[in-house]
Amino acid sequence: MPAAAVIGLQWGDEGKGKVIDALARDSKLVVRYQGGANAGHTVHANGEKFVFHLVPTGALWPGVTSVIGPGVVVDAPGLLGELDELKARGVRLEGRLVLAERAHVVFPYHKALDEAREASRGKDSSRLGTTKRGIGPCYADKASRTGIRVIDLYDEQRFSDLLRRNLDEKNAILKHLYGRAPLEFDPIREQYSETASRLRPYVGDSCSLVQGALEHDERVLFEGAQGAMLDLDHGTYPYVTSSSTLTDGISSGAGVPPTALGRALGVLKAYTTRVGDGPFPTEIPGEQGQKLREAGGEYGATTGRPRRTGWLDVVQLRYAARLSGTDGLVLTKLDVLSGMTPIKVCVAYEVKGTRLATVPADPSVLEAVTPVYEELPGFEGALDPTDYDRFPKAARDYVAYIERALGVPVSFVSTGPARDAFIRRGPSVWS
Ligand code: IMP
Repeated sequence: MPAAAVIGLQWGDEGKGKVIDALARDSKLVVRYQGGANAGHTVHANGEKFVFHLVPTGALWPGVTSVIGPGVVVDAPGLLGELDELKARGVRLEGRLVLAERAHVVFPYHKALDEAREASRGKDSSRLGTTKRGIGPCYADKASRTGIRVIDLYDEQRFSDLLRRNLDEKNAILKHLYGRAPLEFDPIREQYSETASRLRPYVGDSCSLVQGALEHDERVLFEGAQGAMLDLDHGTYPYVTSSSTLTDGISSGAGVPPTALGRALGVLKAYTTRVGDGPFPTEIPGEQGQKLREAGGEYGATTGRPRRTGWLDVVQLRYAARLSGTDGLVLTKLDVLSGMTPIKVCVAYEVKGTRLATVPADPSVLEAVTPVYEELPGFEGALDPTDYDRFPKAARDYVAYIERALGVPVSFVSTGPARDAFIRRGPSVWS
């Protein structure tokens, strides 16, 4: 079946936005299946910069229908704001955006709880460094079966009852546990009812749409958000997001069978970054880390926070590639490493004299590992944005090194933010 996924193989911010935009051009549907407005997917098109948070990234192509699946948690006013902004910039999604009726809705009390919980943790080791978009509390309500779904917004009585019950509970926690001001019922009900009526034309049965497209052999692109190491089950728990960021999340989050997926492209940056707290074995401290941050413009697209920077980590990447069934790699930001000599790559973790072959489950062990590095020669100067054969030899050797280390071909190389700075090295994703 002609379905492909693009997922992040690191801690998010691998440059998925540009990759999805490029592949969306030949797709019929682009489907978000997890996460929420914590994502920030950036596309540079026609001299303009677009950052997508909830709207799927293929939206700039007029032939693409965008789908927000039931596995996504939706900040409804935020989505409306994004649609209004796109419209003001000439991108209209009427008739080509479908929002799942079953998707859960993020409310102001989710954001307030996210924020209060993080603040109460201070700077000690229990702080997660979330985006404060209410993602964790919303998924928690979904799992507790107290959440409010998109479809509930259209039943006035049910919506009021659910909102009242949720608000009573959350206000008690906000007030008594965190000493915060309670939130008022009426303004939230009014804002969300109004938002719901404006979103009404977009709401539908997204799962049947995706299933039908697959049955008709239409090209469907599943858009992963965040990255493998932020996956709720397999990432560096508890320093993770609250959804399934790997390919396994597609089935439940989009409503398709696990056998639907044809290709799984894993996006990795030529080095590693992480925003938020938690273990990061190959982090580069001090001035050199700062230099990489500046060279790569490593500041969050959603929160503007400076990202932590580090060397490529083959142990982590192998773990992520195996979990996700990645059959092609997309290497981004290789140009940023220009002038860094030598280039270091972590090939193993050592802890108390023992070598670890994979990522340990215990965060304190991961925090304590010493990375074992191999050093590779660096390269100088700009990379040709369209001709791989004209790359400096050391840059091509680095690409070949990654392919050998992960046992997966590098199918695409991205060398800059522009849409056309994207080189395909293998067969088309859809062939
Ligand atoms: P949450 O998803 O806001 O709950 O944040 C949990 C962790 O995931 C924090 O470390 C965030 O910085 C990180 N995170 C969430 N979304 C993204 C993303 O799109 N890119 C990178 N990191 C993210």
